[in-house]
Amino acid sequence: MRIAFFSAKPFEHEPFLAAAAGRHELVFLPQRLDASTAPGAAGCAGVCAFVNDRLDAPCLEALARAGVRLVALRSAGFNHVDVDAAARLGLAVARVPAYSPHAVAEHTVALMLCLNRKIHRAYNRVREHNFALDGLMGFDLFGKTVGVVGTGKIGQCVVRIMRGFGCRVLAFDPAPCAECRELGAEYVPLSALLSGSDIVTLHCPLTPSTRHLINDAALRSMRPGAMLINTGRGALIDTRALIGALKAGRLGAVGLDVYEEEADLFFRDLSEEVLHDDVFARLLTFPNVLITAHQGFFTREAMANIAQTTIANADGFEAGRIDPANLVTPALFVPAPKA
Ligand code: NAI
Repeated sequence: MRIAFFSAKPFEHEPFLAAAAGRHELVFLPQRLDASTAPGAAGCAGVCAFVNDRLDAPCLEALARAGVRLVALRSAGFNHVDVDAAARLGLAVARVPAYSPHAVAEHTVALMLCLNRKIHRAYNRVREHNFALDGLMGFDLFGKTVGVVGTGKIGQCVVRIMRGFGCRVLAFDPAPCAECRELGAEYVPLSALLSGSDIVTLHCPLTPSTRHLINDAALRSMRPGAMLINTGRGALIDTRALIGALKAGRLGAVGLDVYEEEADLFFRDLSEEVLHDDVFARLLTFPNVLITAHQGFFTREAMANIAQTTIANADGFEAGRIDPANLVTPALFVPAPKA
């Protein structure tokens, strides 16, 4: 199958070409996929999209007009896809539900450790021969309480790691998992998690009901000086409310791998350009805020798994049997196997 690979980065070429092994022709396109760029998929039966592509109804309609039949997401999240529109248009949408929950969980803990022991500040100080410790004091993680919101694949890995540090873990998930309970996580209502945790970390999907889950009221209910980590999706947090809480000195530290308006910023080198996002610019001014640009997934193992599953979805589409666990649209939209 010929597949238009949108938002392509050079580091993706090798793992995807290796996974495709000549079975599919990959057309790497650096531009983001949206309604204006979708006609670029003409001549391709498939497109491959990433998290900041905008697969809304106009984009999907343009893809369908261009002859596309498969949308292969190289991500777990699919909040950027209008699934109803895809189903209406007869487009199959497949994703990579799991590639390395460890990658994201370990990045989450890296943010916690870096913020707590102020490694980002210490690194710069030592390079300037400033060996003073003032302002670098952290706290023992041992014995602290970590609140994990969403205990799916990634949240479960976070629970395991934090229990290894000797932390108490509070968890909130509408579908609690037995493994997390066995690891010692205590399921409590979200309000109890927020008011009872020294560190709160978000691992639930972005849906209409989780949008701005962490709003002004939620931030006010957190312990004074608590740390908040978000490696889920940016819009889980109301950024303006977050800035208010930071300005008031109510939060100890904030670690973000995602940002609600990241689509206009992340995955690109804008170092020569003026930053137009004043909200993001304000976030960058806080000494206790650490931001990475959606790199939680970015390990060798995760990239290889993403490539393999994405290509397996294209193989499955051609054979008429995509793994149902990977399908976002109903199986109805996968063509029957060729006779
Ligand atoms: P998963 O589907 O295994 O787990 C999600 C969990 O959240 C489920 O247990 C679900 O019951 C729970 N949940 C749903 N609504 C909730 C709510 N209102 N409150 C609390 N929990 C709720 O997903 P997985 O693989 O653990 O990924 C979680 C999220 O992490 C993804 O949806 C994605 O947005 C994000 N992610 C971020 C990456 C990064 O590079 N920063 C990479 C991969 C995923």
